[in-house]
Amino acid sequence: MTDTFRPRRSALYMPGSNARALEKARTLDVDCLILDLEDAVAPDVKAEARQQILDAVSAGGYGEREVVIRINALDTPWAEDDLKMVVQAKPDAVLIPKVNSPADLQEVAQKLKVLNAPEGLKLWAMMETPLAMLNAAAIAACGRDAGVGLSCFVMGTNDLAKETRARLVPARAVMMPWLMTCVAAARAGGIDILDGVYNNFQDADGFAAECAQGAEMGMDGKTLIHPKQVEACHLAFSPSDDEVAWARKINAEFEKPENASKGAIQVDGKMVERLHAEMGRRAIAIADAIAARTSA
Ligand code: COA
Ligand code: MG
Repeated sequence: MTDTFRPRRSALYMPGSNARALEKARTLDVDCLILDLEDAVAPDVKAEARQQILDAVSAGGYGEREVVIRINALDTPWAEDDLKMVVQAKPDAVLIPKVNSPADLQEVAQKLKVLNAPEGLKLWAMMETPLAMLNAAAIAACGRDAGVGLSCFVMGTNDLAKETRARLVPARAVMMPWLMTCVAAARAGGIDILDGVYNNFQDADGFAAECAQGAEMGMDGKTLIHPKQVEACHLAFSPSDDEVAWARKINAEFEKPENASKGAIQVDGKMVERLHAEMGRRAIAIADAIAARTSA
């Protein structure tokens, strides 16, 4: 399975200071875990949280789940120690908050190199500042720079609302230009992108609607704050059975000898081009990856 097809439907944040959550995470059906040292952890327990995350990740037991550690911003007194811990803990990726420009990611990559970080440690970037919205394409271009190793954007909609003074309104009309700009930037850079969190975790209908919207927008998945959000999130971001069946059907049609030199064909009364078959292959790969995970 290539990195591109690693399902990232759900990414559950949990405070590094919450030992119970770190333990519980080993049994939760999520694609990614974001063990947080930043916003979810108060200043006076940063050191304790850092040690707890190191112990938990070193102990392992997270199976197929992609383990990501969110460090504190580079201009805080905690970032250096956070990075040192990350190098010891060896998670799949480190999530950098408050990224403003490619230089911020290049700086982290350089620091990690000096610390002899393990090969293959990926960078994820929080997209949550006004400058990040204006520099999205340049930041995403780090996805094509092997020296940086950027593999995912995470929309930080709470911070974005705070910094821009835009309000978090139902259906998110005011945020849409930034969200879609980041989707386009992520695709241009060849990386994944995860939608922001839905704060009101008791509101199942509002959450389901926002998941559906994120999937329509082309997001690969959504960041979550509570285990009760996982199921609806997976429903929205997994290819449906119908979608996968259709994808298999049109791919089978194009593989027939009589269609070998055709660019467009008719299937069940609809015009289908090779680009649809290619899009379908992505849905099939994701569905297969999810099935492999479920049966593992
Ligand atoms: N990860 C793992 N487990 C979690 C969890 C999370 N993010 N949120 C809740 N749980 C667990 C609780 O530990 C509890 O487990 P238990 O019943 O087995 O002891 C269970 O789920 C039910 O929790 P509940 O009582 O409904 O919520 P809470 O009051 O304990 O916690 C929050 C509510 C919002 C504080 C908590 O969900 C949380 O910290 N979320 C993440 C916040 C975060 O990381 N923010 C930064 C990024 S936006
Ligand atoms: Mg934040």
